[in-house]
Amino acid sequence: MNTQLDEIPVARRLTPSAPPQWGGPLVLVTLLASISVMGVAVFLRLNQDMYSFSPSLVAPLPQPGADGRLLGHFSYPIAQEGDLVEVAPGHRLHGDAAAGFLAMQKAAAADGVRLQLLSAFRDQETQHNLFFPVMVERGQQPEERAQVSAPPGYSEHHTGYALDLGDAYHPELDLEPDFEKSDAFAWLQQHAHRYHFRLSFPAHNHQGVAYEPWHWRWEGSIQALELFEQARRFNATT
Ligand code: DAL
Ligand code: ZN
Repeated sequence: MNTQLDEIPVARRLTPSAPPQWGGPLVLVTLLASISVMGVAVFLRLNQDMYSFSPSLVAPLPQPGADGRLLGHFSYPIAQEGDLVEVAPGHRLHGDAAAGFLAMQKAAAADGVRLQLLSAFRDQETQHNLFFPVMVERGQQPEERAQVSAPPGYSEHHTGYALDLGDAYHPELDLEPDFEKSDAFAWLQQHAHRYHFRLSFPAHNHQGVAYEPWHWRWEGSIQALELFEQARRFNATT
């Protein structure tokens, strides 16, 4: 039936045509239900962020210091895609460092040592996922986590000039301080400099990063020397 009221657009009616008897309680129930649904949604969203490791939600990192270091680590630019070459399945290095590494690996093999590439170039996202999830899982503070892993944006691995090496005959020593007892490490200590590789984090380094006998960086070009100059000086002089 077409009443006068029906001809007024609903949005402009001042009074409802027939107020429902249960209008008040119904509105209240609807409101409570909406708040509950929103609460659950917010809870799930927060937890989703926790598990996708949003740095803004897990732990605020401090500001970098006057020398640009964050939690001991210098900042590094991400290598250009075009500069990276694959040196082993799933592992890329800057082309210059790749040539140095392959030559070094070949020389080691001739001496009966098998250098196993464990990690090379890492992008920001990979470094993020190495830093935050483990920190959360272990209930660590950023300071503690940074002793063994650089925050994203601050890893030598971003440059394409750094790599982690293992001894293929002793995988149980991979990324362990005891890697220093391996034949591979003994060989590296003796020969790596010939291929322009330098140990980045020796024991008791001034940056406060844990001893990493497996982590080496290549400094065989002007560009690489410049990138690591600050770290080199810092560890040599302070
Ligand atoms: N493990 C070294 C410090 C890095 O994460 O770059
Ligand atoms: Zn490393």
